[in-house]
Amino acid sequence: MTPRALRALGDTGLTVSLLGFGAMHFDAIDDEAEVGRLLNGVLDAGVTLIDTARGYGRSEARIGRHLAGRRAEFVLSTKFGYGVEGVADWTYACIVQGVERALRELRTDHIDIGHLHSCPLPVLQQGEVSEALADCVRAGKLRVAAYSGENAELAQALADPRFGSVQCSLSLVDPANGQQLTATRKGVLVKRALAGRAWAQAQRPEDFCEGRYWDRWQALALPEPALPWSELALRWSAFQEGVSSVLLGTRSLTRLHEAQAALARGPLPEALAGAIATAQQLAGARDWPGLV
Ligand SMILES: NC(=O)c1ccc[n+]([C@@H]2O[C@H](COP(=O)([O-])OP(=O)(O)OC[C@H]3O[C@@H](n4cnc5c(N)ncnc54)[C@H](OP(=O)(O)O)[C@@H]3O)[C@@H](O)[C@H]2O)c1
Repeated sequence: MTPRALRALGDTGLTVSLLGFGAMHFDAIDDEAEVGRLLNGVLDAGVTLIDTARGYGRSEARIGRHLAGRRAEFVLSTKFGYGVEGVADWTYACIVQGVERALRELRTDHIDIGHLHSCPLPVLQQGEVSEALADCVRAGKLRVAAYSGENAELAQALADPRFGSVQCSLSLVDPANGQQLTATRKGVLVKRALAGRAWAQAQRPEDFCEGRYWDRWQALALPEPALPWSELALRWSAFQEGVSSVLLGTRSLTRLHEAQAALARGPLPEALAGAIATAQQLAGARDWPGLV
């Protein structure tokens, strides 16, 4: 692993790999042995950040089942706010009990990064759930309280000292959140760097976000680059100011290794980065709202 492959998670004292593993997409795999190979392969490759959530199906339970014996080797990130039986979503009790539930599923005595998962702005402003998360940090069950979301909600979280880290979308077709990250001392985990692989879609996808990514991709009208689009997209996101780690949600270890190799090549060449910035400016991309 090259030194460049590790970064500080803001001022939290944690260190994460520049490429993180997003454990959202492997619920489609039914073969438990295959999931075990994938998760162990992620750690074997030197990826030291794994991101999951209450809402990702069997993901938390599978990370617990396959990686409990390797817990010291990785920074574990998950998300709360909903999905606790008999408890109303987005309440103090839902956060505290959600953390307890996640600890059991993940078979660990602490979670490193605990996010509020797309918590609505009025709830965030009211403060009860943020305080619940802070109490879980004080109790030693979470190391870092974090927020996952975009736009005004992201601004609210960045201004709140209780949060040590944030997670948000940031890609070449969804660059707006980046304007808020340049001066932050919090950790920043980037999701959706591949933007639904808009470049590979022959037609406008029906999915809400992917459809918009596709529209924005058309608006940018970037010329075919000399490197693969997914490499270009990953390198663009990973080297934006303030970013600690980019989450890749692949079910393929080959793609994970390719992504690591791509990031090891560093920031995009200046001329290419400049051409993308100009295309974004001409298309008014700074005003496109960040998509969850
Ligand atoms: N907080 C939130 O609300 C939120 C929302 C979305 C995502 N996330 C986090 O971010 C992580 C990443 O998710 P994402 O939605 O941003 O997805 P992503 O990593 O941008 O893309 C994942 C998809 O792209 C495919 N893929 C990856 N590399 C590829 C390549 N080189 N060529 C072709 N296809 C490729 C994967 O398919 P294969 O599996 O076949 O490789 C998978 O279907 C998630 O796992 C999750 O941890 C969080």
